[in-house]
Amino acid sequence: MTRGIPFAGLPDDDWRSRAADVIPGGSSTGSRRPDVLYGSRAFDAAVPTHYERADGCYLWSPDGRRFIDCGMALGAVGIGYADPSITRAVINAASNGNISALPHRLEVEVAERLVQVIPSAEQVRFLRTGAEANAAAIRMARALTGREHVVACGYFGWLDWCSDAAGVPASVQHAVTWVPFNDSGALETAVSALAAPPAAIIIEPLVHDIASASWLHVARRLADRTGAVLIFDEVKTAFRVRTGGVQELTGVTPDLTTLGKAMANGYPLSAVVGRAAVMEVAQRTWISSTAATESTGLAAAKAVLDWHERTDVPERMATAGGMLLQIIGTALSESPWVGVRAEGPPMMWRLVSDAPDALDALVAAAARDGLLLKRGAYQFGAIAHDDAALAQVAQLMPRIMHALLPGPRRVED
Ligand SMILES: Cc1ncc(COP(=O)(O)O)c(C=O)c1O
Repeated sequence: MTRGIPFAGLPDDDWRSRAADVIPGGSSTGSRRPDVLYGSRAFDAAVPTHYERADGCYLWSPDGRRFIDCGMALGAVGIGYADPSITRAVINAASNGNISALPHRLEVEVAERLVQVIPSAEQVRFLRTGAEANAAAIRMARALTGREHVVACGYFGWLDWCSDAAGVPASVQHAVTWVPFNDSGALETAVSALAAPPAAIIIEPLVHDIASASWLHVARRLADRTGAVLIFDEVKTAFRVRTGGVQELTGVTPDLTTLGKAMANGYPLSAVVGRAAVMEVAQRTWISSTAATESTGLAAAKAVLDWHERTDVPERMATAGGMLLQIIGTALSESPWVGVRAEGPPMMWRLVSDAPDALDALVAAAARDGLLLKRGAYQFGAIAHDDAALAQVAQLMPRIMHALLPGPRRVED
């Protein structure tokens, strides 16, 4: 391959260096940057930074090594990579013209299906990313109430309204009050301390663990009392904790819900759904994107909804995730090497450490042996984590733990 001057001297297959040259941080997704994937072990040449192909719960690096993945694309993939029925639906949508002057009929069909499975959904607006869906829900709440302030708990994406990153105006940040997870007293105090009632209370109903129904009830009551719009961000939890999300599990229903990730098994599609009386405000403000009705994401979502009709997808994800948690958690707790533990609900759990370097060492050792563990975020069980994959994880863990012990095969070396 001939390269221009900027790439001179880099081997063709040095994807890590080539990425670092042309992409600030090495990847456009924060959690996929080498320093976020591996922390202090980001420069270990044996850990993979790019993939060539993914299938089921496996992925292959460009140099042909195979890895079992526990992160499943940050929870975007719940069935498995390249699932045949979803891939067929996407190819079919692409070959029939993925976008046109008119919206595809799939927009209507998938909206109708979401109304059937999400308890609080009567109407739907589609977008592409979770962050977009949340920004739309907040705009709708502000437009409906004529108020500005938001009370929030969770992660809602990278856009201005919910970020304190460099470049976000202070005035935007001041319009949000952040409250701790699962703390009813703190939520009540935050709402009553506001000079005026809020436009919205927005909650991510699973942060490390599933929110208690009692906390969500308090949020519901506060929203009703103050006239605020209650929003649940179910981007990670719908189609996973239950098909209908945490609201199906707890019975507490918000006014608006945001969806994404596993809804389309990794194809970019998100949605705001909710009560018709609230959703209609979408017509009185401006929420629109050229690609919102592009049909491949909608086709993928329809195929995912078919999966949820055929089998209990959340149950199977929880079983697979629970097995991963048990196998990896037991290996960690039984090893003389200490420093990392595994905890959380079975469908999405975390590796936790008080010593950041221990987590880096574990994740790098696992990657060297063919197991991709997500550092600093959730491990997600998927249907594709079948018995064969779980048996391989069980086989790999003793080797990985052994590599962490002092001796000739120290990963720290
Ligand atoms: C709960 C939640 N909401 C919103 C988002 C943002 O979604 P996206 O990255 O698709 O913009 C995420 C992403 O991790 C998320 O976990």
